[in-house]
Amino acid sequence: MSIDPRDLIARLGGAATVAGMSCEAKADALEDYLMQRLNAALNASTPGGSSAAAKRYPTAAEVEAQIENHPLRRGVGNLFFSSTGNVKKLPRLPEKPTLIDFFKLRFHATSNHVLQSANLARNNGMSEEIILACLLHDTVQELIKVDHGWWCAQLYEPYVSERVAFAVRHHQTLRFYEDEAHGYKYPELYRQMYGEDYKPEPYIEANYKFVRNHKWYMEPRMVTVNDLYAFQPGVNPRIEEFADIIGRHFKQPKEGLGFDNSPVAHMWRSISMPDHPL
Ligand SMILES: [Fe+2]
Ligand SMILES: [Fe+2]
Repeated sequence: MSIDPRDLIARLGGAATVAGMSCEAKADALEDYLMQRLNAALNASTPGGSSAAAKRYPTAAEVEAQIENHPLRRGVGNLFFSSTGNVKKLPRLPEKPTLIDFFKLRFHATSNHVLQSANLARNNGMSEEIILACLLHDTVQELIKVDHGWWCAQLYEPYVSERVAFAVRHHQTLRFYEDEAHGYKYPELYRQMYGEDYKPEPYIEANYKFVRNHKWYMEPRMVTVNDLYAFQPGVNPRIEEFADIIGRHFKQPKEGLGFDNSPVAHMWRSISMPDHPL
Protein backbone atom coordinates (compact mmCIF):
# COMPACT_ATOMS: atom_id res chain seq x y z
CA MET A 1 0.00 0.00 0.00
CA SER A 2 1.54 3.30 -1.02
CA ILE A 3 1.21 6.22 1.38
CA ASP A 4 1.50 9.80 0.28
CA PRO A 5 2.79 11.70 3.33
CA ARG A 6 1.29 14.95 2.08
CA ASP A 7 -2.11 13.28 1.78
CA LEU A 8 -1.83 11.84 5.27
CA ILE A 9 -0.76 15.17 6.78
CA ALA A 10 -3.63 16.89 4.98
CA ARG A 11 -6.08 14.29 6.33
CA LEU A 12 -4.76 14.92 9.83
CA GLY A 13 -5.50 18.63 9.49
CA GLY A 14 -2.35 20.09 7.97
CA ALA A 15 1.26 20.55 9.03
CA ALA A 16 0.49 23.03 11.81
CA THR A 17 -2.06 20.73 13.44
CA VAL A 18 0.27 17.76 13.13
CA ALA A 19 3.11 19.78 14.70
CA GLY A 20 0.91 20.41 17.73
CA MET A 21 0.11 16.74 18.34
CA SER A 22 2.13 14.69 20.81
CA CYS A 23 4.34 12.04 19.26
CA GLU A 24 2.27 9.23 20.73
CA ALA A 25 -0.87 10.83 19.30
CA LYS A 26 0.79 11.07 15.88
CA ALA A 27 1.94 7.49 15.97
CA ASP A 28 -1.52 6.34 17.01
CA ALA A 29 -3.13 8.45 14.30
CA LEU A 30 -0.79 6.87 11.76
CA GLU A 31 -1.58 3.34 12.95
CA ASP A 32 -5.30 4.11 12.83
CA TYR A 33 -4.92 5.52 9.34
CA LEU A 34 -3.04 2.48 8.09
CA MET A 35 -5.43 -0.01 9.68
CA GLN A 36 -8.45 1.83 8.33
CA ARG A 37 -6.96 1.94 4.84
CA LEU A 38 -6.11 -1.74 4.99
CA ASN A 39 -9.58 -2.70 6.19
CA ALA A 40 -11.16 -0.45 3.59
CA ALA A 41 -9.06 -2.01 0.82
CA LEU A 42 -9.98 -5.48 2.05
CA ASN A 43 -13.69 -4.65 2.18
CA ALA A 44 -13.55 -3.14 -1.29
CA SER A 45 -11.91 -6.28 -2.70
CA THR A 46 -14.34 -8.65 -0.96
CA PRO A 47 -17.50 -9.56 -2.90
CA GLY A 48 -20.36 -7.98 -0.99
CA GLY A 49 -17.91 -5.85 1.00
CA SER A 50 -18.95 -2.42 2.15
CA SER A 51 -17.99 0.76 0.38
CA ALA A 52 -15.73 1.71 3.27
CA ALA A 53 -12.97 2.54 0.77
CA ALA A 54 -14.87 5.67 -0.11
CA LYS A 55 -15.00 6.81 3.52
CA ARG A 56 -13.09 9.95 4.36
CA TYR A 57 -10.77 9.78 7.32
CA PRO A 58 -11.16 12.45 10.01
CA THR A 59 -8.60 15.22 10.24
CA ALA A 60 -6.59 15.64 13.44
CA ALA A 61 -8.45 18.89 14.05
CA GLU A 62 -11.76 17.00 13.82
CA VAL A 63 -10.45 14.31 16.15
CA GLU A 64 -9.24 16.93 18.63
CA ALA A 65 -12.63 18.65 18.50
CA GLN A 66 -14.31 15.35 19.28
CA ILE A 67 -12.55 15.05 22.64
CA GLU A 68 -15.09 17.33 24.26
CA ASN A 69 -17.97 16.63 21.89
CA HIS A 70 -17.95 12.92 22.12
CA PRO A 71 -18.76 10.51 24.93
CA LEU A 72 -15.84 8.24 24.07
CA ARG A 73 -12.12 8.90 24.36
CA ARG A 74 -9.74 7.98 21.55
CA GLY A 75 -7.95 5.32 23.58
CA VAL A 76 -11.09 3.19 23.83
CA GLY A 77 -10.81 -0.30 22.36
CA ASN A 78 -12.27 -1.09 18.94
CA LEU A 79 -14.87 -3.46 20.38
CA PHE A 80 -16.51 -0.72 22.43
CA PHE A 81 -17.73 1.61 19.74
CA SER A 82 -18.72 1.78 16.12
CA SER A 83 -17.58 4.54 13.82
CA THR A 84 -20.33 3.72 11.31
CA GLY A 85 -23.51 3.60 13.44
CA ASN A 86 -24.71 1.39 16.23
CA VAL A 87 -22.59 -1.49 17.43
CA LYS A 88 -23.69 -4.98 16.38
CA LYS A 89 -24.50 -7.93 18.62
CA LEU A 90 -21.49 -10.18 18.91
CA PRO A 91 -21.70 -13.93 18.46
CA ARG A 92 -21.12 -15.92 21.63
CA LEU A 93 -17.73 -17.51 21.96
CA PRO A 94 -17.47 -21.26 22.57
CA GLU A 95 -17.55 -22.36 26.23
CA LYS A 96 -13.78 -22.79 26.36
CA PRO A 97 -12.56 -20.20 23.90
CA THR A 98 -9.16 -20.51 22.27
CA LEU A 99 -6.90 -17.85 20.83
CA ILE A 100 -8.11 -18.78 17.35
CA ASP A 101 -11.74 -18.29 18.46
CA PHE A 102 -10.82 -14.77 19.56
CA PHE A 103 -9.18 -14.10 16.21
CA LYS A 104 -12.28 -15.26 14.35
CA LEU A 105 -14.98 -13.74 16.56
CA ARG A 106 -13.48 -10.70 18.33
CA PHE A 107 -10.30 -9.38 16.67
CA HIS A 108 -12.14 -7.87 13.70
CA ALA A 109 -10.37 -4.51 13.55
CA THR A 110 -6.83 -5.73 14.15
CA SER A 111 -6.61 -9.21 12.64
CA ASN A 112 -5.79 -8.18 9.05
CA HIS A 113 -2.87 -6.11 10.20
CA VAL A 114 -1.35 -8.61 12.61
CA LEU A 115 -1.83 -11.52 10.21
CA GLN A 116 0.00 -9.58 7.51
CA SER A 117 2.74 -8.72 9.97
CA ALA A 118 3.14 -12.38 11.00
CA ASN A 119 3.11 -13.39 7.33
CA LEU A 120 5.88 -10.91 6.55
CA ALA A 121 7.93 -12.15 9.52
CA ARG A 122 7.50 -15.72 8.28
CA ASN A 123 8.55 -14.75 4.75
CA ASN A 124 11.58 -12.96 6.22
CA GLY A 125 12.67 -16.16 7.97
CA MET A 126 12.04 -14.93 11.52
CA SER A 127 11.95 -17.32 14.47
CA GLU A 128 8.61 -18.80 15.47
CA GLU A 129 8.61 -16.63 18.60
CA ILE A 130 8.98 -13.45 16.54
CA ILE A 131 6.25 -14.63 14.16
CA LEU A 132 3.98 -15.19 17.19
CA ALA A 133 4.88 -11.77 18.63
CA CYS A 134 3.96 -10.18 15.29
CA LEU A 135 0.69 -12.12 15.28
CA LEU A 136 -0.25 -10.80 18.73
CA HIS A 137 1.37 -7.35 18.85
CA ASP A 138 -1.65 -5.04 18.27
CA THR A 139 -4.60 -7.31 19.13
CA VAL A 140 -5.20 -5.73 22.55
CA GLN A 141 -6.38 -2.63 20.69
CA GLU A 142 -9.74 -4.37 20.58
CA LEU A 143 -9.85 -3.75 24.36
CA ILE A 144 -7.80 -0.56 24.77
CA LYS A 145 -5.43 1.49 22.64
CA VAL A 146 -3.62 3.57 25.27
CA ASP A 147 -0.09 2.20 25.82
CA HIS A 148 -1.04 -0.82 23.75
CA GLY A 149 2.40 -2.45 23.93
CA TRP A 150 2.23 -2.75 27.70
CA TRP A 151 -1.41 -3.83 27.79
CA CYS A 152 -0.88 -6.37 25.03
CA ALA A 153 2.14 -7.96 26.72
CA GLN A 154 0.16 -8.24 29.96
CA LEU A 155 -2.75 -9.91 28.17
CA TYR A 156 -0.50 -12.64 26.79
CA GLU A 157 2.12 -12.98 29.53
CA PRO A 158 0.68 -16.09 31.22
CA TYR A 159 0.53 -17.96 27.92
CA VAL A 160 3.70 -17.10 26.01
CA SER A 161 7.43 -17.07 26.70
CA GLU A 162 9.00 -14.11 28.47
CA ARG A 163 10.76 -13.32 25.21
CA VAL A 164 7.49 -13.05 23.23
CA ALA A 165 5.93 -10.84 25.92
CA PHE A 166 9.06 -8.63 25.87
CA ALA A 167 8.80 -8.27 22.09
CA VAL A 168 5.13 -7.32 22.25
CA ARG A 169 5.57 -4.87 25.14
CA HIS A 170 8.46 -2.92 23.66
CA HIS A 171 7.53 -2.71 19.99
CA GLN A 172 5.49 0.35 20.99
CA THR A 173 8.68 2.18 21.99
CA LEU A 174 11.07 0.96 19.29
CA ARG A 175 8.96 2.15 16.37
CA PHE A 176 10.30 5.66 17.12
CA TYR A 177 13.99 4.74 17.00
CA GLU A 178 15.98 4.01 13.88
CA ASP A 179 18.25 1.00 13.62
CA GLU A 180 19.35 0.70 10.01
CA ALA A 181 21.96 -1.93 10.85
CA HIS A 182 19.12 -4.27 11.76
CA GLY A 183 16.75 -3.25 8.98
CA TYR A 184 14.67 -0.55 10.65
CA LYS A 185 15.02 2.71 8.86
CA TYR A 186 13.29 5.57 10.59
CA PRO A 187 10.34 6.12 8.28
CA GLU A 188 10.58 9.19 6.09
CA LEU A 189 6.86 9.54 6.76
CA TYR A 190 7.58 10.04 10.48
CA ARG A 191 10.16 12.70 9.68
CA GLN A 192 7.60 14.60 7.68
CA MET A 193 4.88 14.08 10.26
CA TYR A 194 6.88 14.82 13.40
CA GLY A 195 9.59 17.19 12.18
CA GLU A 196 13.32 16.58 12.49
CA ASP A 197 13.55 17.68 16.11
CA TYR A 198 10.71 15.79 17.72
CA LYS A 199 11.18 13.95 21.00
CA PRO A 200 9.05 11.08 22.20
CA GLU A 201 7.48 11.30 25.66
CA PRO A 202 10.07 11.03 28.47
CA TYR A 203 8.79 7.61 29.61
CA ILE A 204 9.23 6.31 26.06
CA GLU A 205 12.79 7.70 25.92
CA ALA A 206 13.63 6.08 29.24
CA ASN A 207 12.14 2.81 28.10
CA TYR A 208 14.12 2.97 24.85
CA LYS A 209 17.38 3.25 26.82
CA PHE A 210 16.39 0.21 28.86
CA VAL A 211 15.39 -1.87 25.82
CA ARG A 212 18.39 -0.80 23.70
CA ASN A 213 20.76 -2.20 26.32
CA HIS A 214 18.77 -5.34 26.97
CA LYS A 215 19.96 -8.75 25.77
CA TRP A 216 16.58 -9.25 24.08
CA TYR A 217 16.64 -5.97 22.19
CA MET A 218 16.33 -7.76 18.86
CA GLU A 219 12.97 -9.31 19.76
CA PRO A 220 10.87 -6.11 19.76
CA ARG A 221 13.13 -4.66 17.07
CA MET A 222 12.11 -7.46 14.71
CA VAL A 223 8.44 -6.77 15.45
CA THR A 224 8.96 -3.19 14.27
CA VAL A 225 10.87 -4.36 11.19
CA ASN A 226 7.91 -6.54 10.23
CA ASP A 227 5.22 -4.13 11.36
CA LEU A 228 4.86 -0.84 9.52
CA TYR A 229 5.42 -2.18 6.04
CA ALA A 230 3.03 -5.08 6.48
CA PHE A 231 -0.01 -3.25 5.11
CA GLN A 232 -0.50 -4.98 1.79
CA PRO A 233 -3.88 -5.14 0.07
CA GLY A 234 -4.47 -8.48 -1.58
CA VAL A 235 -2.37 -10.36 0.98
CA ASN A 236 -4.87 -12.01 3.27
CA PRO A 237 -3.25 -14.70 5.40
CA ARG A 238 -5.62 -16.84 7.46
CA ILE A 239 -5.20 -17.54 11.15
CA GLU A 240 -5.20 -21.29 10.42
CA GLU A 241 -1.83 -20.85 8.68
CA PHE A 242 -0.36 -20.06 12.09
CA ALA A 243 -2.10 -22.82 14.04
CA ASP A 244 1.12 -24.87 14.31
CA ILE A 245 3.13 -21.96 15.70
CA ILE A 246 0.31 -21.13 18.13
CA GLY A 247 0.20 -24.79 19.16
CA ARG A 248 3.93 -24.86 19.88
CA HIS A 249 4.30 -21.46 21.58
CA PHE A 250 0.95 -20.47 23.07
CA LYS A 251 -0.14 -22.29 26.25
CA GLN A 252 -3.85 -22.51 25.62
CA PRO A 253 -5.56 -22.96 29.04
CA LYS A 254 -7.79 -26.03 29.07
CA GLU A 255 -10.59 -24.07 30.79
CA GLY A 256 -10.60 -21.55 27.94
CA LEU A 257 -9.23 -17.99 27.86
CA GLY A 258 -11.06 -16.01 30.51
CA PHE A 259 -11.88 -18.98 32.72
CA ASP A 260 -8.51 -20.19 33.97
CA ASN A 261 -8.27 -17.89 37.02
CA SER A 262 -5.09 -16.35 35.64
CA PRO A 263 -4.30 -12.76 36.65
CA VAL A 264 -5.48 -11.63 33.20
CA ALA A 265 -8.60 -13.79 32.86
CA HIS A 266 -10.80 -10.72 33.38
CA MET A 267 -9.16 -9.04 30.40
CA TRP A 268 -10.13 -11.96 28.17
CA ARG A 269 -13.66 -11.94 29.59
CA SER A 270 -13.90 -8.21 28.83
CA ILE A 271 -13.00 -8.90 25.19
CA SER A 272 -15.37 -11.85 25.12
CA MET A 273 -18.35 -10.04 26.68
CA PRO A 274 -17.90 -6.30 26.09
CA ASP A 275 -21.66 -5.71 26.47
CA HIS A 276 -21.74 -6.70 30.14
CA PRO A 277 -22.35 -3.43 31.95
CA LEU A 278 -20.67 -4.25 35.29
FE1 LIG B 1 1.64 -1.37 17.59
FE1 LIG C 1 1.35 -2.85 14.23
